[in-house]
Amino acid sequence: MLRDDGVMLLEGTTAIVTGAGSGIGAAAAQRFAVEGAGVVCADIRLARAQQTVDAIVDTGGRAIAVEVDVRSSVQNEAMVDIAVREFGGIDVAFFNAGTIRPGNAVKLSEQDWDVVMDTNVKSIFLGAKHVLPVMADGGGGSIINTASVSGLRGDPSGIAYGASKAAVVNLTRCLATDHAAQGIRVNCICPGVIDTPPVRRMLADDAAREQVGNSNLLDRIGLPSEIAAAAAWLASDESAFVTGEALVVDGGLTSRSVALNMGDPRPR
Ligand SMILES: NC(=O)c1ccc[n+]([C@@H]2O[C@H](COP(=O)([O-])OP(=O)(O)OC[C@H]3O[C@@H](n4cnc5c(N)ncnc54)[C@H](O)[C@@H]3O)[C@@H](O)[C@H]2O)c1
Repeated sequence: MLRDDGVMLLEGTTAIVTGAGSGIGAAAAQRFAVEGAGVVCADIRLARAQQTVDAIVDTGGRAIAVEVDVRSSVQNEAMVDIAVREFGGIDVAFFNAGTIRPGNAVKLSEQDWDVVMDTNVKSIFLGAKHVLPVMADGGGGSIINTASVSGLRGDPSGIAYGASKAAVVNLTRCLATDHAAQGIRVNCICPGVIDTPPVRRMLADDAAREQVGNSNLLDRIGLPSEIAAAAAWLASDESAFVTGEALVVDGGLTSRSVALNMGDPRPR
């Protein structure tokens, strides 16, 4: 994974990835390691984080696993302390852990609302609270948050998830605004439908999978590695002039209007 000039995108850096035990987080942790970063793989499921670490170490990379519930300030602080102790600082933080609880306003429980908000939004506030001073001391850094296309529009039965991901988009802009002067860039990624375990569970039958795949312009579900590639770019100096951005990586899902059909734009 060398650039034309032979330099890896994240050589000599340290990156934290939350939700690194599965899906997008696991792919990003592995991509960051390939690009030369030492990676702190954080997840509430330590065994899963360790599997990601093993895959990284097996291919010559540097990584450690840390058990973290991202909803806890104390555990976020401990994660940051471990990163500094093991790797000497933090250059990149990919706040990616997230969860879904389906339901409309009538059916969703208050408890599930709180779980989603705490896991998807409060976690980023708490992670940033502890990471930002370390990054500022080191002269800067890059924070990437995982939002979603669900934060840009209304999905059926997605009231908590959609609200949480919309909050991530503007939390990203607020963090970028506050910390640009410290050399810290903050961006988020809005993935479309990506082939990870929760999506596989939701789209268990082939017909549902095909229907969702066909809803974007590229006629397929995205890969975790395709979000990892966007995260690696945002983490690196290649995106040095990008901050406060919500980068949509969805195969054109949100570009395509379903409101008005003026004829099929795609020749078949
Ligand atoms: N897969 C998609 O289609 C898709 C689309 C848009 C956004 N996203 C977002 O991408 C992110 C990753 O999702 P994924 O699809 O890879 O899911 P996933 O379930 O494969 O991975 C999520 C990881 O987060 C961990 N996690 C959950 N709660 C946690 C907590 N409280 N503390 C620490 N870790 C916790 C889980 O253990 C899991 O390993 C989420 O924020 C999700 O909302 C996913």
